Amino acid sequence: MRDGGKRIALLGATGSIGRQALEVIAADPDLSVCALASGSKELDELAAEHGAEHVQVGGDVTELLDRAEPDLVLNAIVGFAGVGATLWSLERGVTLALANKESLVAAGDLALEAWKRGGGLLVPVDSEHSAAFQCLEGRAPETVDSLVLTASGGPFRNRSRADLESVSVEEALVHPTWSMGPKITIDSATLANKGLELIEAHFLFDLDYERIEVVVHPSSIVHALVRLRDGAALAHLGHPDMRVPISFALTYPERHATGVSGLDLSAGLTLEFEPPDTDRFPLLQLAREAGERGGTHPCAFNAANEVAVAAFMLGRIGFLDIAALVEDALAAVDGAPARDLTELVEADAEVRRLAAGRLAPAMTDLRRTRRAS
Ligand SMILES: NC(=O)c1ccc[n+]([C@@H]2O[C@H](COP(=O)([O-])OP(=O)(O)OC[C@H]3O[C@@H](n4cnc5c(N)ncnc54)[C@H](OP(=O)(O)O)[C@@H]3O)[C@@H](O)[C@H]2O)c1
Repeated sequence: MRDGGKRIALLGATGSIGRQALEVIAADPDLSVCALASGSKELDELAAEHGAEHVQVGGDVTELLDRAEPDLVLNAIVGFAGVGATLWSLERGVTLALANKESLVAAGDLALEAWKRGGGLLVPVDSEHSAAFQCLEGRAPETVDSLVLTASGGPFRNRSRADLESVSVEEALVHPTWSMGPKITIDSATLANKGLELIEAHFLFDLDYERIEVVVHPSSIVHALVRLRDGAALAHLGHPDMRVPISFALTYPERHATGVSGLDLSAGLTLEFEPPDTDRFPLLQLAREAGERGGTHPCAFNAANEVAVAAFMLGRIGFLDIAALVEDALAAVDGAPARDLTELVEADAEVRRLAAGRLAPAMTDLRRTRRAS
């Protein structure tokens, strides 16, 4: 490991964010990796290459964090599996660079309480939230009117609902502007990702849902925009390249160079925006409702979506069945708040059981029944 500088625990090191983070860290002499974690892929080679002393494959990542005592945790695990690491960091006031939005969505109020107790920094890695964080930084809350999150619209932006019945996994895995891991790529195609981001923004920036708007912006150049009470709006622009928000989170508040080029406006730049279509992409609205209802409804939204996306990728259900399954699961839960991590894990597991049970009958039947009623 390099001497000096920030010692980073990189969780999800073998993934899309993890690999790009390793690139950023290797190019920055003030950053080093002290720990690496993955779900199942071996890490010995990466550990040797990047000088990481501690590694863990699967299991409870908080044990790795206890051993490594990092200055900063980059949580780039996918899904609810990242919740332990998020709470560990927030509780101890260890700086958290958060890519794993699912953990903040699911843990919600528990995460906020831990953050308040720990008193540390939480810097988002999601490009939209990194952008919003920068537009909101240092601003008095009463001067902020609303936040706009942009969505690329995904590969099916121009497909009819009838077309969406039969789109394949391969088609859903081709994102128009970002290259990402499979789960978030499917979430971008259904707009569940923007739904998760909406809830993430609510918790990160303490904004009511009615003050957070989502617009479709196909070129992914404007990452977020903040409207201020005097009628001004501040936007954050840049090429869609995750190395920028990753580096920002790892080097905050210093903002180091990344080698990523700035926008060339003289080459021409057209920015287009349109409202999202929640009829073809109902998961965005379902997320908003889950967020507004609070308690463990966001946790339920996330858990059902994880089960549905996994089933879609295995070819067990169709694209539109993802939203149908989530809607069905949300209707069946009471969403009572979780008082601690044990209760949260139980709420998550209950929805997974429920959603998995609904997968047994043919999902197309479920949707046919729903449409007929
Ligand atoms: N990719 C992007 O551009 C992007 C942008 C914004 C936000 N995000 C968010 O960042 C997170 C990661 O996304 P990604 O696209 O990088 O996903 P990914 O490519 O699928 O990578 C996921 C990583 O998580 C690891 N992992 C899975 N389960 C684990 C567990 N139980 N314990 C420890 N590690 C585990 C995987 O290890 P194995 O390889 O061993 O399975 C892999 O390293 C997600 O929450 C996503 O929403 C991603």
